Amino acid sequence: MKILITGNMGYIGPAVVNQLRSSYPDSILVGFDIGYFGNCITSAQVLPECRVDHQYFADVRQFPREILDEVSAIVHLAGISNDPIGNRFEEVTLDINYHASIDLAKKAKEAGVKSFVFASSCSMYGAADDRAVTEESPLNPLTAYAKSKVFTERSLEPLASESFKITCLRFATACGWSDRLRLDLVLNDFVAGAIASRRITILSDGTPWRPLINVKDMARAIDWAIRREVDGGGKFLAVNVGSNAWNFRVKDLAEAVGMVIPGIDISINKDAQPDKRSYKVNFDFFRKLAPAYHARVDLTESIRELKNGLEGMGFHDGEFRNSRYMRLNILTELQGKGLLNERLQWIKAR
Ligand SMILES: NC(=O)c1ccc[n+]([C@@H]2O[C@H](COP(=O)([O-])OP(=O)(O)OC[C@H]3O[C@@H](n4cnc5c(N)ncnc54)[C@H](O)[C@@H]3O)[C@@H](O)[C@H]2O)c1
Repeated sequence: MKILITGNMGYIGPAVVNQLRSSYPDSILVGFDIGYFGNCITSAQVLPECRVDHQYFADVRQFPREILDEVSAIVHLAGISNDPIGNRFEEVTLDINYHASIDLAKKAKEAGVKSFVFASSCSMYGAADDRAVTEESPLNPLTAYAKSKVFTERSLEPLASESFKITCLRFATACGWSDRLRLDLVLNDFVAGAIASRRITILSDGTPWRPLINVKDMARAIDWAIRREVDGGGKFLAVNVGSNAWNFRVKDLAEAVGMVIPGIDISINKDAQPDKRSYKVNFDFFRKLAPAYHARVDLTESIRELKNGLEGMGFHDGEFRNSRYMRLNILTELQGKGLLNERLQWIKAR
């Protein structure tokens, strides 16, 4: 079996490669990434790309068809991965996340790929009340990033067939350790603040709901999606991936970090405007479809692994919100140095 993983050089990618390497030890794993965050390695002793059999450095917007020869499954992670980048680069976000994803899926279908797994997002539910949203709930994407996920899902659906199975995994917000760590994710940010300055600064009033999932559990869900049968969910499936027990209020997350790292100060912005991105998600459908792949890593374990990882690399940057651990900062820096153009394409050195 040959599996292509796009966007493998990001935050989630290394966990996905580890999972697939252990589930399919004889398979050929192929990585494909533009490499925006290539040198943002944390404590990894070995370059994560050493675990794939082939690595392509290229842009998914110009995807070369020949890479798909003999590929049986695609895990499509490549994309602009958060709201701040989406807000700053709206058109580029639609190009990469939406148009390029559909182009890739069409090429994959023509090439005889059997299974296409798309990294979608629960953020497409936008603002919701205190009831947990299900897959049947109305979508309310509030940002360019969330809209790109909705458009992609909608255009993927008619491409699905008995021989080209499509699975859109609507992931909760990721957390946990990675060889290419991001600190622009709520739990990771809180643990980094606690380690670096013994302080957690909550930018909202702390009440918004956020469903979370550890990257290892995301990788296990992807493993399931690759191998699921068409009669387990249909030729096209869009499913929330996370766990009912992992819907937290932001301030509860901060307090949970305080239980593992005692003596920290938690400040809440009482004057903050209501956060429109508050949503609670129901994950019953995923549990029913994939009982053996339900989330296993709990909140305390996720906080501990982040703490141990950050302490292990001697992390002490109290200004990390301005650092290279934030995806938008890296892209802005690369642009500022004249390495990326306004469409986020590499400017070739001459
Ligand atoms: N992290 C989360 O909380 C979360 C939640 C739901 C969904 N997702 C989705 O999962 C995927 C991976 O997220 P992540 O957290 O690893 O993000 P990330 O930003 O760390 O990684 C994204 C990867 O995609 C690559 N990429 C971007 N544009 C590309 C292009 N034009 N061509 C080729 N490669 C390109 C980047 O270089 C990067 O390595 C994204 O699609 C994201 O929307 C993430």
